Amino acid sequence: MPAFAPRLTPLFGRLALAAIAATLTAAPTLASEAPGQALAAKAGIPWPAVIAHRGASFDAPEETLPAFILARELGADYLELDLQRTQDGVLIALHDDNLQRTTNIDEVFPARAHDPVSSFSLAELKQLDAGSWFNKAYPGRARDRYAGLKILTLEEVMDIAEGGANKPGLYIETKVPEQFPGIEADLKEVLQRRGWLRERPAAAPGQVNVAHMPGRVVLQTFDKSSLRLLHKEMPQVPKVLLLWVGEGSIKPKSAVPFKDSGFKDKASYYAAQEVSSKAEFEAWIDWAKANGAIGTGPSSRLANGGDQSYMDLVKPWMNELTHAKGLIVHPYTVDEAVDFKSISAAGADGFFTNRTAELLKFYQRPARQDIDSLLKSNGY
Ligand code: G3P
Ligand code: CA
Repeated sequence: MPAFAPRLTPLFGRLALAAIAATLTAAPTLASEAPGQALAAKAGIPWPAVIAHRGASFDAPEETLPAFILARELGADYLELDLQRTQDGVLIALHDDNLQRTTNIDEVFPARAHDPVSSFSLAELKQLDAGSWFNKAYPGRARDRYAGLKILTLEEVMDIAEGGANKPGLYIETKVPEQFPGIEADLKEVLQRRGWLRERPAAAPGQVNVAHMPGRVVLQTFDKSSLRLLHKEMPQVPKVLLLWVGEGSIKPKSAVPFKDSGFKDKASYYAAQEVSSKAEFEAWIDWAKANGAIGTGPSSRLANGGDQSYMDLVKPWMNELTHAKGLIVHPYTVDEAVDFKSISAAGADGFFTNRTAELLKFYQRPARQDIDSLLKSNGY
């Protein structure tokens, strides 16, 4: 299997292999027999994987309709979402556990502006504007039609995944699961009812076909208890333990908090954080494997910093060790070619990315249409 073979339907894949092989000589330099490739194949997960982090969230408001539609249309393998639950028991896709950053909660429910997501009903959440913040934060990428976008339910994200010619998979994180007892069982109920826990029909030739693969759903969490519960509920579904250095995660070499560290920005502080020892890192990998994970999602330090630049948990020795234990490596959250290249060389088996189109370009399977025309043709 060539290193950069796209996820095509089997017939098209066979017919296209010769043509694809001819282009591979120009591919970015990655190990031709990467150790994670066989492990990903065993789990039924595409390799290397393009995981659209909160959808195509560089170009549209995170975890909203245009973000997920754009990711699907560009050709992402997976739509990534953060799972929470409303006060009336509906599973939704939202990252933060309060509504301050990505909605107009201050205007709609001023007295409850700092309350947790879990205290709002779905009807209340649907009154919020989850798009205008993006236009203010990123005027260069703003679009009039982003104003008034709604928070989505898990089932609405499933509708998007199912609704185009490309059939991406779902990469679902249980977010702050301690706030949502039983959310793992709730997730199983929805996945089962919607047919995502059994084989799904193949996509048409030439389209993304991940929803047809055994790894059509990947479950992810930072939380050990939640990983255990996910494995108990859905032992057959691939699971990934997200890695971090600090409280509740891998023990740091130095426990000096940011406020006392002297660093001016979080990215520089995170960059200086290291695991306390190789044995500590190895213990986390062993624990992940023993509790049902088929991979890890480590943080990455990005060449140009930024608010998603974290600890470097993708050093070559870490990825080698993880592969040697039989687990794949999906680092978060990487958007630029300089990082795709260096972290791939260090052993990544795909990436969480806000910039699906950039990662697809790096993997030499560029989108057929540009972002602007895809957004316009979908009404944005
Ligand atoms: O789920 C992988 C990555 O998304 C973890 O970070 O905070 O963006 O959910 P976060
Ligand atoms: Ca996430």
